[in-house]
Amino acid sequence: MQVRIAADQPWDVKADVLVVPVLGQPAFTGPLGELDQRTGKELSALVDFGELRGKRFKAALAGAGPDGKVGARRILLVNGGLATDLDRESVVKLAAASIRRLAGRDVASLAIWLSPLADLLEGGAAAVAELGARGIVEGGYEPARIYREGYEEGAPQLKELVLVAADEDIGRLAKAAERGTIIGEGANLARTLSNRSSNDVSPEVLAEEAYTLAKKHGLWIDVIGPEKASEMGMGLFMAVGRGSDNPPRMIVMRSGKKGEKDALGRHLAIVGKGVCFDSGGISIKPSDRMEEMKMDKTGACTVIAAAVTVSRLAPGTPLLVMAPAVENMPGPHSTRPGDVVKALNGKWVDITNTDAEGRLILADALTYAEQLGATHLVDVATLTGAVGRALGELVAGAFGTPQGFVDEVLAAASKAGERYWQLPLVEEYRADMESWYGDLVNFSRNNEGGLVKSALFIEEFVTRPWVHLDIAGTGYYRRVAPYAARGATGFSHATLVELALAGAKG
Ligand code: BES
Ligand code: MN
Ligand code: ZN
Repeated sequence: MQVRIAADQPWDVKADVLVVPVLGQPAFTGPLGELDQRTGKELSALVDFGELRGKRFKAALAGAGPDGKVGARRILLVNGGLATDLDRESVVKLAAASIRRLAGRDVASLAIWLSPLADLLEGGAAAVAELGARGIVEGGYEPARIYREGYEEGAPQLKELVLVAADEDIGRLAKAAERGTIIGEGANLARTLSNRSSNDVSPEVLAEEAYTLAKKHGLWIDVIGPEKASEMGMGLFMAVGRGSDNPPRMIVMRSGKKGEKDALGRHLAIVGKGVCFDSGGISIKPSDRMEEMKMDKTGACTVIAAAVTVSRLAPGTPLLVMAPAVENMPGPHSTRPGDVVKALNGKWVDITNTDAEGRLILADALTYAEQLGATHLVDVATLTGAVGRALGELVAGAFGTPQGFVDEVLAAASKAGERYWQLPLVEEYRADMESWYGDLVNFSRNNEGGLVKSALFIEEFVTRPWVHLDIAGTGYYRRVAPYAARGATGFSHATLVELALAGAKG
């Protein structure tokens, strides 16, 4: 897809479809009034008729009028909600909803009129160009094409995206749009890795994919297999990985030099849960919706993609990536409930529930990240069903300490247009994680506050500033949304990218 900036009025732009964002009850005055006039008042008629009523991201297709006074062949009006509610997330989603609304149509060139949004958003037209381009790329993502190349339905595959804003600096907008495109492509890379099924993407295959990406983008990579991992003392990682015939892989990637500090004085590590299939192990899950557990590798896919995106946007930016990849399966070699296992940091863990496996592999990966010199750690994981029940599919859970670093991550999140809600690390609940036989259990018999306890467990394995992001609710959709396909969403990719880029040099 080519991106072109047009510093024109919206009616001057040649495209198959022109997207016109509609905020609140618009007065058809100024350029919007002129556009309406040129369509023979088709736009105001559709709005008055109630075609956009009620729902944000609802969209209506209009003709361009009979007299050739508009360059586009058709106009897509999209409800952007109230002007006062507009934020970065809604710009991405509005663009994504626009392209998805055109599913099945022959659309090769799509134009978006930025100005109605640019006037309302901090950062103006450049911010809208970036987030709009990202939204088009993400909205155009179609998981049905992963295995069926000829799949024709779904969002149109554009040849050209035109971003329209009169009186703007074309070079600046082009750069912003390029940034948005690359971030969108990174999210889609994470989504494809995550959506691919478990018979396709084993830990070995995920490591091979990471290797190919690392070579292509100039990243350092090391892949640790089971023998070496056992030798090194990654007991928790191995405890989860040993039950499957598909052996585990600890994937380590790096941009920048070993231990190198970024512009903020950090050696940042991002660590993603890579459970290529989570059956629960011996503590086996019920079969209902178990197929979703192929996406339990989403955290790993996201951190791998984030490394690629960072290297495309600011090559050499210091960043360490850990993707512990395992399959959690029952079998004669599996860890049994009650097994007591030594972690890489020396703590003994009493594995009371083999389905609480994410925290186990994250624990050893975080320890190893610290051994490799990480000063700041962020882990991202589809860790608990509880976070989805608490916060739903639009808001992820966040935990961390100290607050200053949590705030840094949340600032990156707001730049990325992603919502997180910080939850407390309730010190008193730690008593419930005590074990008779080991230093702690991975699953408390009293699972009240299990979401908090999952984070308390991970905290036992970090000694530096650390944030845990639980994306089990936001990481994939169980149904289509106006702005996204079913399946993996790429959630947290943009946040991790912004966090790393905050430390980019030069
Ligand atoms: N991968 C699951 C969490 C999950 C559940 C992700 C639903 C997405 C949707 C995780 O490994 C798990 O099994 N968590 C258990 C934890 C429990 C055993 C403490 C859970 O949430 O029930
Ligand atoms: Mn599990
Ligand atoms: Zn899991």
